[in-house]
Amino acid sequence: EKGGFDHFMMKEIHEQPKAIRDTLSGRVKEGVVDLSQEVGLTPEQIKGIEKIHFVACGTAYHAGLIGKYVMEDLARIPVECDVASEYRYRNPIITDKTLVVVVSQSGETADTLAALREAKSQGARVIAITNVVGSSVAREADDVIITWAGPEIAVASTKAYTSQLIAIYLLSLYFAQVRGPKAVSELSEIVSHLLELPAKAEAVLKQEAQIAQFARGIATSEHLFFLGRGMDYAVALEGSLKLKEISYIHSEAYAAGELKHGTLALIEENIPVVALATQHAVYEKMVSNIQEVKARGAKVLGIAVEGNHELQKTVDEVIHIPKTIDLLAPVLTVIPLQLFAYYACVERGYDVDKPRNLAKSVTVE
Ligand code: M6R
Repeated sequence: EKGGFDHFMMKEIHEQPKAIRDTLSGRVKEGVVDLSQEVGLTPEQIKGIEKIHFVACGTAYHAGLIGKYVMEDLARIPVECDVASEYRYRNPIITDKTLVVVVSQSGETADTLAALREAKSQGARVIAITNVVGSSVAREADDVIITWAGPEIAVASTKAYTSQLIAIYLLSLYFAQVRGPKAVSELSEIVSHLLELPAKAEAVLKQEAQIAQFARGIATSEHLFFLGRGMDYAVALEGSLKLKEISYIHSEAYAAGELKHGTLALIEENIPVVALATQHAVYEKMVSNIQEVKARGAKVLGIAVEGNHELQKTVDEVIHIPKTIDLLAPVLTVIPLQLFAYYACVERGYDVDKPRNLAKSVTVE
């Protein structure tokens, strides 16, 4: 049942190329995204959207954070992203021109479902991105985009996250095509890069041995930091959650520019830092942040894009992800972080698939 792997989590990490491919399948035709079968909004309604709220919990919330960057960049619609347990109690401004996108692997998360109901009762249109056909969230939303990741058994979410990202890229491109803030050729260029992601995810998985080695080396550490800028910051949050959830190592994710505003005080000799440096627009800034932690003795694992021969001069170890456009990099960048959490957990001897105190689906508040 684990397909030859020791744990469901590892099986699911390795299923990501397929999950990505299946989630793209049938939704792209000749460089154009077509979600008209699942999203019932007319072109006029899409043009009329004034703002989007992504609402979700945990890993699905981290997918929503990426959604803010992607949707704002491609479709130029203002986006807010909220944790469902906050959203439902904070009196958000919702009108009939608000689109609420709830993201939930299980489709049964109590807070996400309550947020959906609240949004609907205030007149918003609700799209659900979920992995379970017929789930509560799928049944109650106006429109449903299924992530075709297949059943996810491990409590730590992996393939659901990367599939959620794919659904978010598709939705953003679909809206961008209708609203037209970018040239058609530019959008179809992005689509062609999107279609290359399954093969590239496969390539990232080949670096497992190197990641495992670094993870084993930090397994006795008590604290760890993940740093990134832009979308790498959102991926850092997900990497940090994964590590905490299964290895019980305390970690924090920081927007690298925030280091000087407090966190740098915690960086001391031998503290492990995972530094994500895949975003070209902020690359130089990121490198100077890495130098700041290196100067204080941190042991740094860098994540860079293939062809970068420079970062290795600054950090202790580098993992390279295949070249893609910055916007799509999170799908690849998260994979080393999933493997990293997995191997840290195994090294510490904990139960990978059933971490303490947690349930796969949080159906109570
Ligand atoms: O089923 P959902 O996507 O609604 O679940 C949301 C979170 O409970 C879930 O992503 C959780 O954070 C994972 N265990 C993280 O790996």
